Parts: sequence; C-alpha cells; structure tokens
Amino acid sequence: MQFVCRECGYESARWLGRCPQCGMWNALVEAPVPQRDSGAAARPGIGGVPKRLSEFAPTSDARLSTAIGEFDRVLGGGVVPGSFILVGGDPGIGKSTLVMQGMDGLARQGVRVVYSSGEESPGQTGMRARRLGISGDEFYIVCETSLDAILDHVAALQPGVLVIDSIQTTHRTGVASSPGSIGQVRECGAELMRVAKSDGVAVIVIGHVTKEGLVAGPRTLEHMVDTVLYIEGDRYHQYRLLRAAKNRFGSTNEIGVFEMSGAGLQEVPNPSQMFLSERVRGAPGSVVGCAIEGTRPLLVETQALVSPSCYGVPQRVATGVDRQRLAMLLAVLERRVGMRLGDSDVFVNVAGGLRVTEPALDLSVVLAVASSVKNAACDPDAIVVGEVGLGGEVRGVSQAARRVAEAAKLGFARCIIAAANVKSLDDAENITIRGVRDVIDALDAIDTLSR
Ligand code: TYD
Ligand code: MG
Repeated sequence: MQFVCRECGYESARWLGRCPQCGMWNALVEAPVPQRDSGAAARPGIGGVPKRLSEFAPTSDARLSTAIGEFDRVLGGGVVPGSFILVGGDPGIGKSTLVMQGMDGLARQGVRVVYSSGEESPGQTGMRARRLGISGDEFYIVCETSLDAILDHVAALQPGVLVIDSIQTTHRTGVASSPGSIGQVRECGAELMRVAKSDGVAVIVIGHVTKEGLVAGPRTLEHMVDTVLYIEGDRYHQYRLLRAAKNRFGSTNEIGVFEMSGAGLQEVPNPSQMFLSERVRGAPGSVVGCAIEGTRPLLVETQALVSPSCYGVPQRVATGVDRQRLAMLLAVLERRVGMRLGDSDVFVNVAGGLRVTEPALDLSVVLAVASSVKNAACDPDAIVVGEVGLGGEVRGVSQAARRVAEAAKLGFARCIIAAANVKSLDDAENITIRGVRDVIDALDAIDTLSR
C-alpha cells in the first residue's frame, strides 16, 4: 500500500496531513501500489525501437469528423485516431448526451463505435439512444463496469472508437480498491492509454467533476490524456459550453455552444443572438459589450442595478464578472467621475449565465452602472468595448475589428470603443465608430449618441 494525493496524484510511502506537492490538507488516501513490470514481457512497450525523425512515416492527419461542427472545432478538427480524450463536467450537464450524439455521427460514416455505459442499464441507454435518434449501424452499446470485460469486447469488435461512460464506475479486477477511488482510476486510465496508443483505438473517457472543478479524484488522468474537454453551463439555462482545457491536437481557446433540447444538444450557430435574445431594449442599466471566447466574438448584455443600501455595509454582487474587477471599476467611477456609490448596493450581472474574464467588458460594466445610477437608458443600438485602467483611461483591446464586425452583423448601429482601436477599424461597414479616451469621454459619448 502507498498513499496518493486525491488532488494531484502525489505519491508517498506514509500518510501526511498535507500534500507537499499541491498543499491540500487531508488529501492523501491509501491506494495499492500499481503493479509495475510484473513479468517484464507481459506488457511490451508501445513505442518500438528508436528511429531517426526522417524515418518516421508522417501519420496522416486524418481526423474522424463527428458531424457536429461545434464538437469538431473544439476537438481541433475531429477525433484523432488513437487519441485519448477526457470529457468532464458536472453530473447531469449533458456529457453522455453529447458524446453519444457525436459518436453517432462517426458511426454513420462507417466508423465502428463501442459505447460502454456503467451508469445506466441497457434499457435506459437504449431509450436515450432512440430519443437522440441514434441510428448508425456501427454503433454498439454495452453496459459494463469491468474494464477487463470491456477490453474483451474491444478485442472482438475492433472498433475505431471506444467510449467509457464513466471512469468513476469502471473497475479492474485485481485492484483491491473500489470503483471511483484513485487506485482504480489510475489503473484503468493506464490500461486505456495502452489500448489507445498501441491498438490505435480512439478512447473517450467521461468523468464527473467535483465541486472544486476537478475531475473527481485524480488529476493524474488529466496529465495522461491528450485532450481534456469540459462541458459547462448552469442547469437553469438551456445553453452549454464545450471548452478544451488541454489539447495536444488543437487550440485550447475554442468553445462550442450548444442548447439542450428535447432531442439532445443542438448546435447554436449564432451564440451572440442567443445571449441577446431576452434583452429589453432601452432598459436603464443594460449595456451590450463584446467578449472574445476562443476565436469567436460573443455579444453579451451587461446589466447593473444600483439601489440605496438599507444596511450598514453596501453590497457588491457580481454574477458572470470578477468581483475584484467590479470593485475596481466602482472605485474608478467614484474617484474619476465623482459618482457616489458608497451608500448603494451594486449588482452586476452578465445575462444568460455566461462567465467573462476578459477586461474588454470593463467599459460596458462601467456604463451599465452609470446608466442605472442615472436611471437613464443607454443607446440600445450601441455596443461598448474597452478595458478601463485605474486612471479612468479606456485602453485598447485585442481583435477589435472582429468584435465590431460581429456587432454590425447583428444590426448594431454604433460602437463606442477605445480611441487606440479606432485606426484599425477604418474599413468597418454599416456601423459608426466613436473612439473614447477615458470614462468621462465614454459617458459623454453615450449621452450624445442616445439623444
Ligand atoms: P446527461 O447526458 O445524462 O448528463 P451527464 O451524462 O453529464 O450526467 O444529460 C442529462 C440531462 O439532460 C437530463 O437532465 C435530461 C437532459 N436531456 C434533455 O433535456 N434532452 C435530451 O434529449 C436528453 C438525452 C437529456
Ligand atoms: Mg451520464
């Protein structure tokens, strides 16, 4: 037996109260020592003899397309044969649904898929598959929790892709600990990795994420796999974001936007429109900004409500934007504009449940708060883009032209943006650009524009 950190996978011969690697308290749990090299020939290496780079036949860049555009894009163009992919997310967010839909796309093109579910009975899985309209002839479903049995099926069926739903319900015989424990997950992960790399089967593993945002138990699995995808979104909204946290075959910036419907997850071709769909035009405290997520611009509505606080300590509540950042922006409004906020509660919300960390949304937060304080609506046909500095200055943002183009596409007539960005926007069409140097300038611009 040895002790392994639940969070980072650190190994120790004795128990420690605090993990020396990640600093987490009480995270070391007992786990069996992995059987390394029990009979050296039993597990041959997967790499073969060393070769010169020039001798390597370039592996063809063939990717298997899932026929779901958003899914493929986040994967970096599709599933790479022989890759090892981890799909994480909260329970009930739609992991099984998305993976099943994607695999159907593969099966329809003749790629054999084995989908092994350890979470649901064959009846439940079959019902879900029918509800999702899965009809690929090469789609095999098995409800199994023993990895050894699953690998027997793989050997018999020779699939192109193997899906394990979920790693927490899968176990290997011969490993003493229970399914979902670190020992099991590590052993199963290592075995699946071997299958992926030596047999060329793409392996997709589904894993639940703990409240802290870690794949439950072992971070070790994250280090092992080629690609880590997370499905995010909150359960009270219909949309889901698919994000790559790690990708050896593509960019980690891409996001895919989906909507949960009665027949599974549907791609959202125009996310900006969706995030703005419930906007009340001309409401005080509402300003549209633009954030770039990955390579795509997203227009989002920033809402603010400022109201006199009844209790001693005024509240600052931020949903979807960083709280510290909000505190800073409010301080800028107090000191540089002279707006008194010390005795008011301030609530700021990015509508639709999106979380934005980009500073390019700063100016829209500032203008939304100012608009709520004055109880006067901002120009509903304007979008606002810019980072706000401590001096109240408005700083340029990256990829301004793409943001402005997205706004123009959705019918916005005016754009208030950092003066530093104006030069790069010479050829913007169908939209009036107004450059601003500081927050006062921006407040002035929005006043004159809405008149
Ligand atoms: P699921 O894929 O089972 O989640 P996970 O595997 O991440 O635990 O999705 C579960 C949720 O999705 C459940 O609350 C029901 C909902 N859902 C739909 O709204 N429509 C559908 O077509 C399906 C299959 C699920
Ligand atoms: Mg599931």
